[in-house]
Amino acid sequence: MVKVGILTSSDKGYAGERIDESGKLIAERIKEIPGELVQYVIVPDEFEEIKYNLIQMSDETGVDLILTTGGTGFSPRDITPEATTAVIHRNVPGIPEAMRAKSLEITSRAMLSRAAAGIRNKTLIVNLPGSKKAVDECLDVIIPVLTHAVEILRGEGGECARTDKK
Ligand code: MTE
Repeated sequence: MVKVGILTSSDKGYAGERIDESGKLIAERIKEIPGELVQYVIVPDEFEEIKYNLIQMSDETGVDLILTTGGTGFSPRDITPEATTAVIHRNVPGIPEAMRAKSLEITSRAMLSRAAAGIRNKTLIVNLPGSKKAVDECLDVIIPVLTHAVEILRGEGGECARTDKK
């Protein structure tokens, strides 16, 4: 079972002006990994707040995976990829590359997501865009690889040479 933290970055969600439908959807869909939700936070689009919570979930709670939603676009306050990049030790470009590539088959606006992903110690952090639709589409892309990714991070050495998985 993968231990999952969810971080929603949204000024409106934090202020209680918007229901966090995207965070709820992530919480529901992690069952497919299979994963268990161990921490959920909603923060404003503030660099330090996002950074602090990513570090706390990774270093103190010890989650295997953090899925963030929101703040990956071009709005002046969108800062999630920068906060993520500030806390990771190793970049994982393939995950956002894959999300954007598959999402471009659905909408050309997918190229407007600046989502990042990376590894902090033994925690994989993946940014997802903010809308519920985008979250759903991006999770379709990454859920099939998450168990294997976490197994390798934990040092459980999954078999990489399988040919029966897409
Ligand atoms: N990716 C998918 N799969 N589906 C979408 O509808 N929307 C895009 C993009 N990525 C979208 C998507 C849009 S319109 C924007 S502006 C960016 O994600 C950034 O979204 P964010 O600022 O909410 O993180």
